[in-house]
This record gives sequence, C-alpha cells and structure tokens, in this order.
Amino acid sequence: MIKVNENFLKLKSSYLFSEIAKRVSAFSEKNPDKKIIRLGIGDVTLPLPEVSIRALHMAVDEMGKEETFRGYGPENGYEFLREEIVRVDYRARRICIEEDEIFVSDGAKCDTGNFQELFSKDILVSVQDPVYPVYVDTNVMSGRGGDFKDGRYSEFLYLQSTKENNYLPEIPNKKVDLIYLCFPNNPTGVVASKEYLKAWVEYAKENNSLILFDAAYEAFIRNENIPHSIYEIEGAKEVSVEFRSFSKTAGFTGLRAAYTVVPKECRVFDSQKNKIMLNPLWNRRQSTKFNGLSYPVQRAAAAIYSERGQAEIRSLSDYYLKNAKKIKEVFLEKGYTAVGGEDSPYVWINGGEDSWEIFELLLNKAGVVCTPGVGFGKCGEGHIRLSAFNSRQNVKEALDRISKVLF
Ligand code: MLT
Repeated sequence: MIKVNENFLKLKSSYLFSEIAKRVSAFSEKNPDKKIIRLGIGDVTLPLPEVSIRALHMAVDEMGKEETFRGYGPENGYEFLREEIVRVDYRARRICIEEDEIFVSDGAKCDTGNFQELFSKDILVSVQDPVYPVYVDTNVMSGRGGDFKDGRYSEFLYLQSTKENNYLPEIPNKKVDLIYLCFPNNPTGVVASKEYLKAWVEYAKENNSLILFDAAYEAFIRNENIPHSIYEIEGAKEVSVEFRSFSKTAGFTGLRAAYTVVPKECRVFDSQKNKIMLNPLWNRRQSTKFNGLSYPVQRAAAAIYSERGQAEIRSLSDYYLKNAKKIKEVFLEKGYTAVGGEDSPYVWINGGEDSWEIFELLLNKAGVVCTPGVGFGKCGEGHIRLSAFNSRQNVKEALDRISKVLF
C-alpha cells in the first residue's frame, strides 16, 4: 500500500498566498469591471533592468550558435556570477566570502525551504511570529512541527514580535537548535541593528545552534548603521547561513535567481557531538537535486553588478521605497501604528481585531488586496501588511480608496 507522508496532513489547507489568490479571483469573477489594486504578495511590477535585458539577449544568441552553446552548467552557478556576487555584495563591504561558499539557485523561497533537509528531525526550531510561512511549513513537512492548535504548531518555539517589543523578538532563555531570522523582516519590515544580530550570533555559539538568515530584502536598507549581511558580525560565519535573492533586488520574481552563502567554517554536529561542516553537505544536496540555473538568467543576474547595473537596481528599490514611505505616512497620520516601510518594501499596520475581516473589507469595498497579518502567525492578528510593489499611481489610488473605507 502506498502510504502518505502524514506530516503533510498537518499543514493548514492552503499556502497563505494561494488562499489570497483564490479569494481575489473569486472577487474578480463576481466583479469583472472592478479594477483591483494588488498590494498583497510582494511581487514586483517594474520591468527588469536594461543591463539584464541586454545580457539576456546576448546569452540567448550565444545559445543559438554551436561555438558558444552551453549545456549543463555548474550546479552552484557559473564562476562569472559567483565572482561578481563576492566582489560586490561581500568584499565591497569588507566581508571575506569565497566563491565556493556561494550557491546560486532559482529562489530564496526554495533555498530557505530546502535547507532544513540537512538537519535531524529531533531538533528544536524557532521562528519569529509573525513569520514568512515557508520556514514553518517546510519544517512541518519534515515532521518537526507537532500538532497545529490555536494558530500554532506545538513543537516550534515562537519568538513573538509585537508592538510591545517594537516587533523585535527577545533572545530565548532556553536552548534552541535552529533559528530562522529575516531582516529586513518579512512581514513587518523591521530591521535589525548590529548589536541585535551580535546577540544572536553569541547565543548561537553558546548553544551550538545555527542561524538561517534570510536577507532577501537587504537592497532596501538605506540606514547606514543597519547591517546588510549577518557576516558583518564577527564570528557569524561559524554559526550562520545567509540567503539572498535577485527577486526584489533586481525585479527577478518572474525570471528567478537567488543564492545561498554557506561559509566553510559553518558547522553542525552529529549524534556523537562531532563537528560536521555544512558547506560540503549543501554542495552534496544541491548536486544531487539541482541542476543549476539557466545560463541566460545567470548572465542577466551578473549584469546587475556592473556600475550601470548597480545604479539601475538602486533606482528600482528607490522607487518602491518612495511608495512604502507614502503608505506608512498615510496610516500614521490617521493614528494607526505602522512599522517598516523605511528600509523595507513592506508596511506592517496594526489596525483592527480580525485581519481576514480587514482583508475582506479592503477587497470588497476598496478593491485593494493586502495580506492579512494572521496569515503570518498568531501575533499578526489585528495587523495587515501592505506591499510597496506597485506603480506610484496605483499606490496613490489604493490609498485614496482605503481612506474612504477605513478612515
Ligand atoms: C511575500 O509577499 O511575502 C513574498 O513575495 C513571498 C515570496 O517572496 O515568496
């Protein structure tokens, strides 16, 4: 008899963004003439940088000629891309990372989701609450979640991010094995100072834990005192893996490109407490299960590291940051608590009792899609997340429509 992996039966019936998409398409079927403005899922709307378009065209032409055609590439990415990543994202910030510590992939969602495969089933996992649901769901799939009750899985340690702690959870006073941190945070948009990350790195060292640091939104950081990488903290390489994405940085949500940094000194332990290095383990996993990102997409990704490319991607994030600032201002003026939106494309608004109710109200009465906070965890109840990924005009119109309904 073919038996199911029963861990999958413990998942909530649908993934947050699929549930939202279902509700939005039901609304649009009933109201075909109503223009919907989407400030829900963080999906970019501006086109790809010109440097990437040019690189794509050239790479496609290369693939069409026998002399320059390429078949399978290296699973972890071409050297031309990994060199550029190291040069611009790390060495320029005085962080020493080597090319063979970079693993290029097709998305930070897949990487943050897949990485937990390297760990034993019986570890204690901690996640922030609210949290990007991928960290939770993938650990549930692997049997680490326990039962779902009252909005939480029984076996995780949830780190509460609430108004009271400025949405920055305290370091736990018990031992946790695997820690997911995301800064600038999705969904709250809150950033972490050097001191805060330093405390986590110290904690991870003392407790033999590992930090999975999701830095998918680092390109939105403008405050010079805020670290872009966890490796800006001394000693972090031993205890942290970092995830980066080209999706929000360079408009690649539809093209797909990301990378994961696994430093050579980064360690876990076997049941005899021997150190096991993670870099060769992730390499082993990727070379078995992943065949690399397509050559043209890697060329498009590498193009953003030229001087011109850096200017183009900066103007993309500047554009969205201006939207975020406007969204935040409007809610603050009306007396709401709103955080994020400064070094982040997300604004996290505390605005009512039931966040699915606010979602429905905004969809039905204003034709605006938000993300209900409770979809990110119990502490998200009473909140909504608005994304700045849309045109200036649509954001303005959405805010006008929201004002009529909420204020
Ligand atoms: C979000 O809206 O939280 C993100 O777009 C989801 C993702 O990047 O997978």
